[in-house]
Amino acid sequence: MRSIFALAVLVPAVAAAETPTFTADVAPILFESCVVCHREGEVAPMALTSYRAVRPWARAIKDKVVSREMPPWHADPAGSLAFKNDRRLSQADIDTIAAWADGGAPRGNPADLPALPPIPAGWQIRDLGEPDAVIRMPVAEQIPAFGELPMTNYYIPVPWDEPKYARALESKPGNREVTHHTVAYIRSGLPPGTRLNEKGLAVRDPSIEVDDNASFEFAQRSVKLTGYAPGKGYKRYPEGAGRVLPPGWYFVLNQHYQPTGRPETDRSELGLWFHDEPVDTDVHEIVASDGIAIVGGVEVVTGAGQRRPVIPNIPPFADDWKIVTMKVFPEDTTVFSLSPHAHLRGKRFTYTLVHPDGREQTLLTVPSYDFNWQTFYELTEPMVFPAGSKLVTVGYYDNSVRNRYNPSPDREVYWAEQSWDEMFNPFFEFGVEAESPKGSTND
Ligand code: HEC
Repeated sequence: MRSIFALAVLVPAVAAAETPTFTADVAPILFESCVVCHREGEVAPMALTSYRAVRPWARAIKDKVVSREMPPWHADPAGSLAFKNDRRLSQADIDTIAAWADGGAPRGNPADLPALPPIPAGWQIRDLGEPDAVIRMPVAEQIPAFGELPMTNYYIPVPWDEPKYARALESKPGNREVTHHTVAYIRSGLPPGTRLNEKGLAVRDPSIEVDDNASFEFAQRSVKLTGYAPGKGYKRYPEGAGRVLPPGWYFVLNQHYQPTGRPETDRSELGLWFHDEPVDTDVHEIVASDGIAIVGGVEVVTGAGQRRPVIPNIPPFADDWKIVTMKVFPEDTTVFSLSPHAHLRGKRFTYTLVHPDGREQTLLTVPSYDFNWQTFYELTEPMVFPAGSKLVTVGYYDNSVRNRYNPSPDREVYWAEQSWDEMFNPFFEFGVEAESPKGSTND
């Protein structure tokens, strides 16, 4: 009897020694890779910041990390470059979490628990401290409970007298429930013939004379900075590169609200972190298209730079509807990031660089696009696209009943902004030589 008793005690003791614990093994992984979203006030449904909070989720956490649904990341490493914002866990970390959950999810020695990483309240960018400047909508906007709302621009004059150079930018909605997107631009002036009202809206003022070239000029001098949609919202640039923010210009927050059934308010923000020195490279974001798309094997002229391409609508029930766009690079161009944007029928996307000698290099493969997770895939090292190379982007759309996000498979889908319409915006960011901005004191 005595020896059996001794054995019974011994076996669990050995097993326990092999089971990873929360404090020593699992918490360091969760604190590094999960709490940026899984904490109070952030996008994820529950906090993963303490043993007590994590314990009831042990089984779900194992399932989501083993299936690689969490952390969310949609680029297939097999057909993609390396990205510095890659959120994927290593296989060793996944195995640790699985062994911990299977072993009863023990707490471990409290003395082993690492400190929670310091994260500035409300900002995703966590390694740069609080922003150097925060640009806000002038007043909170009231959003009605129902209806389809147009996108609206709120203008905020640039509040400094010398140019500044952003090394990081983050768009932050004031109210995530109702904000479908907030996109920040910087513009050289107000739309011709307008003045700002107290909300920051540019309203027509008949006393201001409009000259013939004014609207063309206005369109030419608008630069997209960054935008928030679920899963993305911030950008960071290496030393020497960034965004030039000239005095005398206007920040524009382009707001798109989707009513929730309750009256809501929102006051969105743009956080800015500055370089100390002027940058050599000004980064721009555009769509990879020279104005021609191939749709169903047929070439269609879409118009370069047009926001609403003139492409045929997606037919009802089409399940693998393909569109191809191309952009030729006449000179060497440094590229920083890639980001396909589509809506609910977006299915899969690829970016391929065709080198001048014809060699094809796949840069990004997103095998199952998810509208809820739009990512700027930031290249680990900025990459030079050589003169004469061509960027080819391919998108597929699923308007069938098998697409569980599809609001109406029986409908033809138009190209427009609402999320039940579609878009194909294969964005990328590239560098140009930073000019001394107009109005600067050193030009
Ligand atoms: C970029 C933000 C983000 C990161 C990083 C992230 N999550 Fe999530 N997580 C979410 C959001 C948002 C949801 C809810 C919607 C969904 O499932 O996509 C979620 C859902 C979950 C769920 C399912 C909850 C439920 O209600 O069933 C689990 C489990 C989970 N996450 C675990 C993790 C773990 C573990 C990590 C780190 C290894 C992690 N997540 C990293 C944002 C994130």
